[in-house]
Amino acid sequence: MSTPFLEDYFAFLRFQSVSTEPALAPQVAACAEWLERKFRAMGLEARVYPTAGHPIVVARSTPKPGRRTLLIYGHYDVQPADPLEEWHTPPFEPTVRDGLVYARGATDNKGQLLAHILGVEKTLRERGELPVNIIFLAEGEEESGSEHLAAFLEAHREELRCDLIAISDTGMVARGLPSLTYGLRGILAMEVRLHGAETDLHSGLYGGVAPNPATLLARMLATLHDADFRVAIPGFYDDVAPLQAWERKEWARLPLDEAFFKEAIHSQALLGEGGYTPVERAWGRPTAEINGIGGGYQGSGSKTVIPREAFAKLSFRLVPNQKPAQIEACVRAHLERVCPPQVRMEILTGHGGQPFLCDPNGPDGLAARRALVRTWGVEPALIREGGSIPILEALRGTLGVEILLLGMALPDCACHAPNESFPLENFEAGMRLNQALLEELARA
Ligand code: BES
Ligand code: MN
Repeated sequence: MSTPFLEDYFAFLRFQSVSTEPALAPQVAACAEWLERKFRAMGLEARVYPTAGHPIVVARSTPKPGRRTLLIYGHYDVQPADPLEEWHTPPFEPTVRDGLVYARGATDNKGQLLAHILGVEKTLRERGELPVNIIFLAEGEEESGSEHLAAFLEAHREELRCDLIAISDTGMVARGLPSLTYGLRGILAMEVRLHGAETDLHSGLYGGVAPNPATLLARMLATLHDADFRVAIPGFYDDVAPLQAWERKEWARLPLDEAFFKEAIHSQALLGEGGYTPVERAWGRPTAEINGIGGGYQGSGSKTVIPREAFAKLSFRLVPNQKPAQIEACVRAHLERVCPPQVRMEILTGHGGQPFLCDPNGPDGLAARRALVRTWGVEPALIREGGSIPILEALRGTLGVEILLLGMALPDCACHAPNESFPLENFEAGMRLNQALLEELARA
């Protein structure tokens, strides 16, 4: 298949713009420059801004006074492609199979961002102008924590002044079922390390005598949840906003029952906090997760050793109105309380991001919903999702405007995993969505 949009899409996907891999920084930069050229070729004013990390690309249509300005944010960096041997075709050689484009970044986020860009290009080509002023903001560090974007927003606040922000970096409930995401979970990443003896010890000589950091850490980690898998950290739920009756009702109608989740994770069993359905737990309830445990012998066979240290990587998904700083304090206090005196504990705090919630019934939410109906021919589902986009807080705070999340990722698009894919159907819908959105916002 060869259409003009596929050429652009494939060219964009061929850049190995993996932001976490320092050796690929030239590819990330080349990808930013490709975007700048694309924006200029379609008649927008565009510029690549270097940062201390990866560049930020800003493009704008010639501002027409009296029109509203929509800022569209997206990211051109991608997750690493490993494990490479699990890809059926190479991650940076986009391939179409059965109507799906396979490549790293096909969905997250190059496909979704480019659909908006090409939607604007199409409108400009067909009509010579846009119903609203447009600013594109494309960053290259989303997958590594958007480290330099918040400061950039502060420094370029005037240039980025807008009336509304739209982002397509979230999901759709199912194929052909458009979704307006009015909430995302926040996040807090932490690490706990326990230090015992100065070196690893022979467990025959010192077993029964020396404190074992791995054993003690296991005990501590077991206190994070109660028997019903509710988080057992005192204060953790203090600020949790209860689910609203209307959203529980709306979500219960979606094709996201227990069977869906079992199928999605290829597991016979689900596990989570009692009293809530799986979709409620995934979208509207906070969690404490152990993302990794280490320490001691990890090789094949056995080794009779008492490790000198043990660690666990933890993260917490947060819901309105939890705050990362307050949760961090609760977690620290809890770990201090349950840490046995025989080991020395170190607690590290990683990235954090506030949960996000907006009103899907405001004038712009309604305009977005009309655009989704026009694009897909069905009423959009109103959903929250469990993932996090930490930069939303800075976007809303610094630019002072509301954010619409109009994602097109499918549950089985394998974002962040091998064989990531995006349906061409969604790509084309994304272009139409952009055109409909601009028209509806001009009227709202
Ligand atoms: N696009 C996702 C966020 C997302 C995922 C939104 C699923 C809605 C549903 C984003 O690229 C992402 O993966 N974010 C990370 C953020 C973290 C590394 C701070 C996440 O959610 O784990
Ligand atoms: Mn993303």
